[in-house]
Amino acid sequence: MTRIILYLVLLGQSIALNVSDQSLPGPGEDYYTLSNGCPIDNPQGLVRLGNNELDGKVLLQDINLIDVLTHVTHERIPERVVHAKGSGAYGVFETTHDITNLTSLAFLNKVGKQTPLFARFSTVAGEKGSADNVRDSRGFAFKLYTEEGNLDWLFFGAPMFPLRDPAKFPSFTHAQKRDPSSNLKNASVFWDFFNQNPEGYNFLMRLFSDQGTPWSYRYTDIHSINTYRFTQPDGNFHYVRIALKTDQGVRNLTQDQMTRLIGVDPDFATRDLYTAIDAGDFPSWTAYAQIIRPGDAVTSSVNIFDATRELPEKDYPLIPFGRITLNRNPANYFAEVEQSAFQVANLVPGWDVSSDPILQVRLFPYGDTQRYRLGINFPQLPVNRPVYSYNPTRRDGASNILNLGNLPNYFPSRYGPQIVAPRQYRASAEHMEWVANVTSYLSQVTDNDFDQPRDYWHTLAGMGATQQANLVYNVASSLSGAEAAVRQQTYKVFRKIHRDLAGAVQNQTEALVLSNAML
Ligand SMILES: *[C@@H]1O[C@H](CO)[C@@H](O)[C@H](O)[C@H]1NC(C)=O
Ligand SMILES: *[C@@H]1O[C@H](CO)[C@@H](O)[C@H](O)[C@H]1NC(C)=O
Ligand SMILES: *[C@@H]1O[C@H](CO)[C@@H](O)[C@H](O)[C@H]1NC(C)=O
Ligand SMILES: *[C@@H]1O[C@H](CO)[C@@H](O)[C@H](O)[C@H]1NC(C)=O
Ligand SMILES: *[C@@H]1O[C@H](CO)[C@@H](O)[C@H](O)[C@H]1NC(C)=O
Ligand SMILES: *[C@@H]1O[C@H](CO)[C@@H](O)[C@H](O)[C@H]1NC(C)=O
Repeated sequence: MTRIILYLVLLGQSIALNVSDQSLPGPGEDYYTLSNGCPIDNPQGLVRLGNNELDGKVLLQDINLIDVLTHVTHERIPERVVHAKGSGAYGVFETTHDITNLTSLAFLNKVGKQTPLFARFSTVAGEKGSADNVRDSRGFAFKLYTEEGNLDWLFFGAPMFPLRDPAKFPSFTHAQKRDPSSNLKNASVFWDFFNQNPEGYNFLMRLFSDQGTPWSYRYTDIHSINTYRFTQPDGNFHYVRIALKTDQGVRNLTQDQMTRLIGVDPDFATRDLYTAIDAGDFPSWTAYAQIIRPGDAVTSSVNIFDATRELPEKDYPLIPFGRITLNRNPANYFAEVEQSAFQVANLVPGWDVSSDPILQVRLFPYGDTQRYRLGINFPQLPVNRPVYSYNPTRRDGASNILNLGNLPNYFPSRYGPQIVAPRQYRASAEHMEWVANVTSYLSQVTDNDFDQPRDYWHTLAGMGATQQANLVYNVASSLSGAEAAVRQQTYKVFRKIHRDLAGAVQNQTEALVLSNAML
C-alpha cells in the first residue's frame, strides 16, 4: 500500500529511477537460504540415504537441490526473434532548444530539463550469442521516463527501412535468418528476397556500404525511419522524423577489418560501450527534428509515409532540440537489459503516430513479443516501470508485482482515490475525420525507388576514394555465396541504380565465384 501511495503522489514530478538498487534485504548479515528464505548451512551438500559413497540414494526431500536445479532449468526466457543480441545503459535526455511551438511533450517543455532514460542497442538478425560487428542493421531503443509516462523510441541505424508493406515483415526476417533445412545463413535466399522486393535496395546500399559495419554503437548516427507527429493539445500537429547524430563522430570498419575483429572479439561493440561508460567517457548524441508541415505532406519531394525513403536534409533541415548522454551501466544484465521491453505503442501526450503503414503496424507486434517473452505484467518490471501509472482494472496476471493493493478493481468508484484531470492527455482520435472505402493495398516498385540508391552511389564517391569500391567489394563478398540465377537477377536490379555499379558488382562477384571454386 505504501508503494501505491508513493506512485500516486509522484504524479507530475520527475524523479530519477534507480533500478540497479537491489541490495540484499537481509537481517544485516548474509547467509544462504532456500527460495522461501529458510536458512540453510550446506547449500552444496546432498541429502541421501545411507553414508555409503558407492551405494547411497538421493532423496526427493532434498529441497535445496530440487529448488536450485529447477531454477537453473528455467533460467532462459525466449530470446527476441529479432534484435536478440544487445547492450543497455542508463542515461539522460537534456532539452537544449525550445521547440514548444511544435510539441507539448512534457520532457521538452523547458530548456535545460533532464529526463532519465534507458537505452538498448542491438544487431537485428543474429541470435543472442552472435558476433556484434557483423554486417547488419542496428536497433537503437530508448525508454524516456517522462513525467507523463514512458515514451519509447525504437529507432534504427540506417535512415530508411527495407519495407513499406508490413505483411512482408516475416519473410524479411526469415530471409536473413537460418535456412530451415541446413540451419545455415543462405546468401541465395537473402538476395532473392531483396530481388523480389527491390524497394529494399535503398536500404541495401547503406547496409553494404561501410556504414553497414559501424565501429561500435557509439560511432553511429540513429534515425527514426518512420514519420511521427509532434502534437499540441488543440489538435495542431507537425509531422516529424528524428535524427540522433553521434557526438563521437561516425566511424566504421571495412569488410576485412570486420572479419578480423569478430574473430578476435565477437563482443567488441558490447565491450566498447560498457568500458567507455565504466571509464566515465560518456557517449552522447545530439537530437534533431526534421519538420514537415501537414499541408506539405502531399507536395513533398518524397512520400513521407514511405519508410523505405530517406527524408532529404536539404528539403527538411535538421532542427536541434536535445542531447542524449549515456552515463551508467546496468548492475544486472538479465534484470535490466534482457528484461527491458520497448514498444512503439508507448506514446505520450505531444508525440503520436502518422499514417505510415509500417509505423501503424509496428504499434502491435512489439508489445505482443514482450507479452510472449515476459508475460502480461512486463510493464511492472523495474526497468520498464513508468514514474506513475494508475488504471484500476489492469490487475492480476502472472508475476504481478504492483497490484494496487485493496483499491477497487472497477471505476468510477466511491472507494477509489479522487481522480483529477491531467495537465494534458492523449486523445489521438480527436480532431480527425477519415472518409474512405476499404481497399486491398500492396505497394508497387517504380523507377522512383532507385533514385535515392543512385544518389547514395554518387554521395559515396564524395566520402573518400575507396567508399564506392568498398561497397562493391562488400556486395561481392556476400553475393558470391549465392546461386548463379540469383546473382544474375541481382545484377539486373543494380543496373536500375547505376550501370557502373552493376558492372563492377558483376565483375567482382563473378571473379570471387571463380576463385572460390578453385580453392
Ligand atoms: C544506483 O544504485 C546503485 C546500487 O545501489 C548505486 O551504486 C548507484 O550509485 C546508484 N545510482 C544512482 C544514480 O543513484
Ligand atoms: C517555432 O519557433 C521557431 C523559433 O522560435 C521558428 O523559427 C519556427 O518557425 C516556429 N515554428 C512554428 C511551426 O511555428
Ligand atoms: C539456400 O536455399 C536454397 C533455396 O531453398 C537451396 O536451394 C540451397 O541449397 C540453400 N543453400 C544452403 C547452403 O543452404
Ligand atoms: C566510414 O567511416 C569513415 C571514417 O572512419 C568515413 O570517412 C566514411 O565516410 C564512412 N563511410 C560511410 C559509408 O559512412
Ligand atoms: C467509394 O467507392 C464508391 C464506388 O466506387 C465511390 O462512388 C465513392 O466515391 C468512394 N468513396 C470515397 C470516399 O472514395
Ligand atoms: C568488367 O570487366 C570487363 C572485362 O575485364 C572490363 O572490360 C569492364 O570494364 C569491367 N567493368 C567494370 C564496370 O568494372
